[in-house]
Amino acid sequence: MEKQEFERLLQEKTIQVENILKDWLPREEGYGKTVAEAMNYSLLAGGKRLRPLLMLETYRLLGGKGKEIEPFMAAIEMIHTYSLVHDDLPAMDNDTYRRGRKTTWSVYGEGMGILAGDALLNYAFETALEAAFPAQEGTSEPGKLRAVMRALQIMARKSGIYGMIGGQTADLEAEGCSEPLSQERLLFIHEHKTAALIQAAMMAGAILAEASKEQIEAVEKCACNIGIAFQIQDDILDVVGDSRELGKMVGSDAMNKKQTYVTARGLEKAREDVERLSSEALYILQELPGDRGFLEDLIRDLIHRRK
Ligand code: IPE
Ligand code: IPE
Ligand code: MG
Ligand code: MG
Ligand code: MG
Repeated sequence: MEKQEFERLLQEKTIQVENILKDWLPREEGYGKTVAEAMNYSLLAGGKRLRPLLMLETYRLLGGKGKEIEPFMAAIEMIHTYSLVHDDLPAMDNDTYRRGRKTTWSVYGEGMGILAGDALLNYAFETALEAAFPAQEGTSEPGKLRAVMRALQIMARKSGIYGMIGGQTADLEAEGCSEPLSQERLLFIHEHKTAALIQAAMMAGAILAEASKEQIEAVEKCACNIGIAFQIQDDILDVVGDSRELGKMVGSDAMNKKQTYVTARGLEKAREDVERLSSEALYILQELPGDRGFLEDLIRDLIHRRK
C-alpha cells in the first residue's frame, strides 16, 4: 500500500473508532456528574486509538461482521485511558501533560483523578457487557454469548494483576532499584504494563469473530511482540521525541529516575529491537487468513512513529 493511501485509511478508520467511542460515553448528570466530566475529559482528549483500531482490524480479518465489537472497542479504550489517568497521578509518574492537554488530576484534583480512573475501569465492563444483552436485538444466541463472555474474561485478566496492573507494579518497584534491571525483569515490565492491553484488544477481536484456538494463540503472540516494541518506542520517544508532537512531556522517565529500555540497552539497541520485534509480529501474522494489508502496514508504521 502506498504511504499516502495508508495514511488516508488510518485517518478514516480512526474517525470511525472515535465515532463509536462517542456512542458509549457516560452521561454528565446528577450529583455525581463531575466524575463523568473527568472521564469524558480524558477520553475525548484524542490519542491514537490504537487498541480499538487493532481490535476491529483483528475482528474483521477473522471474519467478524457484527455490532457486538463496538461496545468492546469503547471498553478497551476506557481501560487504556484509566491506566493513563492513574499512571499520571503524583504518586505514580507525576505528569501534568497528556494527549495535548493538562492531565485529568491536574485539572480535577487528585481525588477526582483517582475516581475518574476507577470509574473508567468499571464503566468499561458495564459497556462491554452491553454486547451480551443488546438493547435492540434482545438476548444474543448461545454461541455469541459464550464468545462475549470469553472476550470479557481475557479483557479482565490482561488488565489485572496478571497483566497491566502486574506490569505497573513491577515498574513502580523498579524505580527505587539501585542495581541495573535484568533484561528478564525489563521485559516482564514491558510485556505486562503495555503488551497485555494490546493482547486484550486483539484477542478480544479474534474471540468475538469466533476464531479458532490456534488463531487466537497466534494473535496473542503477535500482539505480545507489537506491545513490547510499542513500549520500547515509547521509552525512545521519552528521550528523543518532541513534546508538542507527542502531546505529553518528554524526559518524564529521567525525572522519575526510571530504568527504561533506553537506559538499559542504549538507543541503538532499543531501535534495533523495535524493528526485530515488529518483524516477528509480521511473521506470526502470516498465520492468519484474509487481507492483512492494512494491519501489516500499521505494524510497520509503529516502528517509526513519532507520537
Ligand atoms: C501510552 O499509550 C502509554 C503506553 C502504553 C506507552 P499510547 O501511546 O497508545 O497513548 P494514546 O492513547 O495515543 O494517548
Ligand atoms: C505506561 O508506561 C504504561 C501504562 C500502563 C499506563 P509509561 O508511564 O511509560 O507511559 P507514558 O509514557 O506515561 O505514556
Ligand atoms: Mg508509568
Ligand atoms: Mg507515565
Ligand atoms: Mg513512557
